[in-house]
Amino acid sequence: MITAPPRKVIYDTDPGVDDAMALYYALAHPAIEVVGITTTFGNVTVEQAAVNALYLNALAGRSIPVTQGAAAPLVKPLEPPPAHIHGADGLGNLPARTLHRHQLDPRSSARFTVDMARANPGEITLVAVGPLGNLSQALTLEPQLPELLHEVIIMGGSILEPGNASPVAEANIWNDPHAADHVFTAGWALTMVGLDVTHQVILPVSLFKKIADHHRHPATDTLHHAVGFYANFYSALYPHVAAIHGCFGHDVLAFIYLASPELFTVEMGRVRVATQGLAQGQTIMKRKDSIDYPQNGWGSDIPLTQVCMKVQAEACKADLEKILMSPWLTR
Ligand code: BDR
Ligand code: CA
Repeated sequence: MITAPPRKVIYDTDPGVDDAMALYYALAHPAIEVVGITTTFGNVTVEQAAVNALYLNALAGRSIPVTQGAAAPLVKPLEPPPAHIHGADGLGNLPARTLHRHQLDPRSSARFTVDMARANPGEITLVAVGPLGNLSQALTLEPQLPELLHEVIIMGGSILEPGNASPVAEANIWNDPHAADHVFTAGWALTMVGLDVTHQVILPVSLFKKIADHHRHPATDTLHHAVGFYANFYSALYPHVAAIHGCFGHDVLAFIYLASPELFTVEMGRVRVATQGLAQGQTIMKRKDSIDYPQNGWGSDIPLTQVCMKVQAEACKADLEKILMSPWLTR
């Protein structure tokens, strides 16, 4: 049997507990090869995001290049990071960290993305799970980026599900709505994995304990600790999440979509982002393409986005468990 080579991925991230979970899922998955980790502000400052990406990488025994990127939104003022959700350190306030020698790649996240895309035309999938400033900056540096990348998958936005940063906005889009609208109108093969699906998949802390007990490794111990902190936040907010002391896996769903798209039901539509006012950060999808609305901004020049609307939640949980229980860590 001929098996396809692993998909080359640049992982654009603001780690972040669910970002860490997603990174480890990607590293463990035989169909995914992470060729770079680009960091942005979001769950933490960009400096802390880069520190965390280097640390998670080192703990897992990998030396994937890590870059530092967007420090603030393109236009709106920077807000303080949500320490109550991810911890002041982004990883659930780890009690201690071990030393490592890994260093940042000196390029900006946008420069690295453009260099990699030019060197591997048509081969790289960009999985972006934080605010979208790095991708927007990369587009500005290289307007041909949509042709150079294979595909872009983002965790962000929401169509029907209420927002988590405002009544209508998901946090990654809220954090940089101008960058997000740039990304949604750029014309690449774009898939949105938003709250419509991520709020359906609730992951119990007990699953991460089982994974940590199985591996007995600093990487999975760290993930278990971080998920415990994160689950406290979500359990205080939602009784059905508290019932299993769990959390939403948000970012990991972007990688589960990449590896197992058959678990998702998708819809095509033109997506725009409200950049100002009460709806700031809302992702609005034109779901009836047959209607020719009179307003500017919804014409056929706006590219189509594939939006994940439904997910097979139990199958995603089973897949996450299978992948993270596999022998992906070396000592
Ligand atoms: C998104 O916001 C961040 O807090 C998470 O890491 C995820 O990327 C969920 O809205
Ligand atoms: Ca994230």
